[in-house]
Amino acid sequence: MEFDNEIQNLLTKLKEKYDASGQDWKAYLEGLLHQNYLSYWDYIHTDTLLSLQKPRTAIPDEMIFIMYHQITELYFKLTLHEMEQISSKKDGIDPIFFAARVKRMTGYFKNLINSFEIMVEGMEPKQFLQFRMSLLPASGFQSAQYRSIEICATDFIRMVDKEYRDNMSNASLDEQYKYIYWQAGATELATGQKTLTLTQFEEKYQDSLLRLAKDYENKNLWAVYKSMTEADQKNEELIKQLKDFDACVNVNWPLMHYKSAVRYLQKSTEDIAATGGTNWQKYLPPRIQKRIFYPELWNENEMQEWGKSLMEL
Ligand code: HEM
Repeated sequence: MEFDNEIQNLLTKLKEKYDASGQDWKAYLEGLLHQNYLSYWDYIHTDTLLSLQKPRTAIPDEMIFIMYHQITELYFKLTLHEMEQISSKKDGIDPIFFAARVKRMTGYFKNLINSFEIMVEGMEPKQFLQFRMSLLPASGFQSAQYRSIEICATDFIRMVDKEYRDNMSNASLDEQYKYIYWQAGATELATGQKTLTLTQFEEKYQDSLLRLAKDYENKNLWAVYKSMTEADQKNEELIKQLKDFDACVNVNWPLMHYKSAVRYLQKSTEDIAATGGTNWQKYLPPRIQKRIFYPELWNENEMQEWGKSLMEL
């Protein structure tokens, strides 16, 4: 059989590829003869993926709760994948590449914001309050990817509780961590003590989150932005994308999330027990938290109004 030039070229390139690693290229060609065709289910691991929904009760709507959390974690993973692409650029970053990646991240969060109704309207409150009791002390509060997104998005000082932030900008990251904002979210209303939700979270993730913060000290999104030339920092598309991302993560998603907490939990003291008795009403609203990744990009008025209503992008 005669091989045309295209095939000859491919064979030569294959041989070069395997020669370069000292491999016998003919053995690999023979391997192709026996290799199975790839299937969708093997590639996507559908069987594994669909085996990961394991309710703790027989209450039907718990399945929705589990799956929507899993969907969210996958979007968080996509977001972190883009962060990594931006932060791992070694030889300077082009503002167009930067803006396009941030736009993707915002797109993921927009999908989550637009679909949060699944949590707000998509479960029967009575069922929610029943199965939620079987899940204590677990809480979305313990999502390490959510915290990782924040750590990779901006300087760590932005995550220090706003009461302490101004005095802590020169402190070490270990010191700043002691005043991290999320400690306030896991305090028992009745006693003022740290909840089990928080102590378990710290046991599992504190060290790795601190390592991440140190790793990203000079390559978080804001640090990357500040390392650009002045002209690149003025790139309007990049500024718009960073602001949209900030608004999505720190206002629009928290507002939608808060709406779900209000729908299911704000009824009676008994309902509130379904959170493990935390101070979520004071903690969750973004107008109280005022978490802002990029304050230099917003004006005073925008920051005053921060978190009071959904932001238009
Ligand atoms: C019916 C739906 C939901 C309700 C009622 C709810 C309720 C709450 C409450 C009360 C808190 C405060 C901490 C606590 O008391 O445990 C919280 C925190 C949190 N939840 Fe949810 N949640 C819901 C869905 C979700 C989903 C789908 C996610 C996605 C991963 C999520 C992620 C989080 C995160 C990241 C925090 C911490 C927020 C922060 O520190 O500002 N929640 N949630």
